[in-house]
Amino acid sequence: MKPLDGRVAVVTGASRGIGRATAEALAGAGARVALVARGAPELKEAADAIGPDALAVAADVSDPDSVRAAFRRVDETWGRLDALVCNAAVAVPARVEDADDAALAQQVATNLLGAVYCTRQAIPSLRAAGGGDLVYVSSDAGVAPFPLLAVYSATKGGLEVFARAVRAELAPDGIRVCLLRPGPTLTGFARDWDPGAAAAALEVWQAEGHLRAGELLDSGTVAESVVHVLTRPPGAELRELDVRPTTPRE
Ligand SMILES: NC(=O)c1ccc[n+]([C@@H]2O[C@H](COP(=O)([O-])OP(=O)(O)OC[C@H]3O[C@@H](n4cnc5c(N)ncnc54)[C@H](OP(=O)(O)O)[C@@H]3O)[C@@H](O)[C@H]2O)c1
Repeated sequence: MKPLDGRVAVVTGASRGIGRATAEALAGAGARVALVARGAPELKEAADAIGPDALAVAADVSDPDSVRAAFRRVDETWGRLDALVCNAAVAVPARVEDADDAALAQQVATNLLGAVYCTRQAIPSLRAAGGGDLVYVSSDAGVAPFPLLAVYSATKGGLEVFARAVRAELAPDGIRVCLLRPGPTLTGFARDWDPGAAAAALEVWQAEGHLRAGELLDSGTVAESVVHVLTRPPGAELRELDVRPTTPRE
């Protein structure tokens, strides 16, 4: 018997990084998991690696119709939902005065509106299951905003306010809400960044104490925290969780 046997979870941004590790950890704890992301081949590879308890659902969280179709598919496949992990996000480093229109819109639409669209679709199923869990993957940037990531930081701050309001709205339905704030984590989050802009940003973040050389979390460690949140006993809610790297011991 595993702690999440019989439960169904949706994880957005699950084709790589923290989302993929979370989908793997939830499946390892017994859940059936729908993995959501845009890039179908990478998504399929992630779901195939988990096995029959995983469902690859290609969708764009920034598009409300795409989100509606994704949750319909989960409902048609498994007929229930117990947890949603809103993890998909993008960041584009730039000084505000230099930020381009498309990058600004993409960050707000993915990181903030994406979570809103997914939450809206998940609520009826969570309520029908008699309660469940909403986990919002925020960031240390949501409470200590990063220069050169002003818009990304603002989307995480907005996500945090949204999550608290949703908790107040859904508490009578037995739906728990957790804000999970990873610190710097080794993933491909910066893989599409302009190398020059990334190097310049890194220098500023290290100088201002947002990052420390050699201090990085493993995505599996963050994923274990999500399992911990979902396995709290009924009657208890883990509301906020900061997961930060420490300097490794020699
Ligand atoms: N890595 C860090 O240091 C760090 C630190 C603090 C917080 N976080 C947060 O942790 C979460 C995961 O970050 P990560 O580092 O694991 O990122 P990542 O490796 O870049 O993975 C991002 C995932 O989101 C998906 N995605 C992006 N846009 C999407 C969209 N519009 N619709 C659906 N899926 C979308 C990507 O797949 P497709 O591109 O194929 O859609 C991918 O699966 C994010 O919320 C991030 O803000 C990360």
